[in-house]
Amino acid sequence: MHVLVTGGAGYIGSHVVKQLIEDSNHSVTILDNLSTGHNETVESLKKMFNNHKTTSREFNFIKADLADFSNIDKIFSENDFDALIHFAASIVVPESVENPLKYYMNNTVNTTNVINQCVKHNVGKMIFSSTAAVYGDAKESPVRETTPTAPINPYGWTKLMSEQVIKDTCAAHEGFDAVILRYFNVAGADTLNRIGQSFPNATHLIKVAAQTAIGQRNKMSLFGEDYETKDGTCERDYIHVDDLASAHLRALEYLDKNDKISPNIFNVGYGHGFSVAEVINTMKEVSGVNFKVEKVPRRAGDPAILISDNSKAKEILQWTPAFDDIKLICKTALDWEKTVS
Ligand SMILES: NC(=O)c1ccc[n+]([C@@H]2O[C@H](COP(=O)([O-])OP(=O)(O)OC[C@H]3O[C@@H](n4cnc5c(N)ncnc54)[C@H](O)[C@@H]3O)[C@@H](O)[C@H]2O)c1
Repeated sequence: MHVLVTGGAGYIGSHVVKQLIEDSNHSVTILDNLSTGHNETVESLKKMFNNHKTTSREFNFIKADLADFSNIDKIFSENDFDALIHFAASIVVPESVENPLKYYMNNTVNTTNVINQCVKHNVGKMIFSSTAAVYGDAKESPVRETTPTAPINPYGWTKLMSEQVIKDTCAAHEGFDAVILRYFNVAGADTLNRIGQSFPNATHLIKVAAQTAIGQRNKMSLFGEDYETKDGTCERDYIHVDDLASAHLRALEYLDKNDKISPNIFNVGYGHGFSVAEVINTMKEVSGVNFKVEKVPRRAGDPAILISDNSKAKEILQWTPAFDDIKLICKTALDWEKTVS
């Protein structure tokens, strides 16, 4: 297959491209505007591809913005894509509250256009990056794919609206099929430290803890110690980025083997969680640094617990996680932070 990966120069997309290069025979084209993705990441992926090169496959990078509809149409006309894995999006929740239109335009409008291009140019398979944020402040734990969706910020809404566009398109167009993956808390980096999360202003807990451990920040905040959880701090389902990536490869196989799945939605997490305090302590342990943590009041919009029920992905996609180890997640995040700092 020839797989188009939008956002492949970013954090999660690059780990999926790595696995497409190393663990499949597919050709890959990355399309990215490098707004938060990096040219260095593309160069690292190119190197990996050259080590796994065969005459029957290709690796291409196209610098383009999904908002440029006529250029996207041209790119789809000039290439023969078989599948789309769509990562490109804006992902910072507080920014989505301050500037919702940026998020609706980049996430929902540009996603709708790229789906339109798929239908127009007969690209029949799509994998979409959705998020546990679609569940909002879920009333049950663990959350199942059937748990009611109720986003509590514009970012979550942009993703849920995109899911709806995908569902309606699958229903109306026989030749178009999709898998929607709802990611939980993605963290860690390539275990060989070749790629990782390079966006300096990321708000993710493990990234921030790693930045604090290496002295890039002089302290970090712990938001709220009065939740109804095991130690009063929020609990989340942290998944290593390479396990999340392998779910995409399984989803691609699933789309390839099955005719009409219309679309199918899967939670991708480990099905158990750690508290914020536990994660901070693990980062202190693996780094050997007792960095400063400032205890501050709760942040608006943080649910107490968000843990996945991942049984559907395990059963139907035959997805088997291999890195379910919070120390390894923290250690790989820390090693990468040292590399990019
Ligand atoms: N990181 C997480 O914890 C997390 C959790 C749930 C869902 N997701 C979803 O996973 C996907 C990837 O997230 P990430 O963490 O890798 O983010 P990222 O910012 O590292 O990657 C996004 C990539 O998309 C590119 N991009 C953005 N807008 C574009 C546009 N208009 N045209 C072309 N390229 C564009 C960026 O340059 C970047 O390379 C996103 O859709 C995000 O919503 C991420």
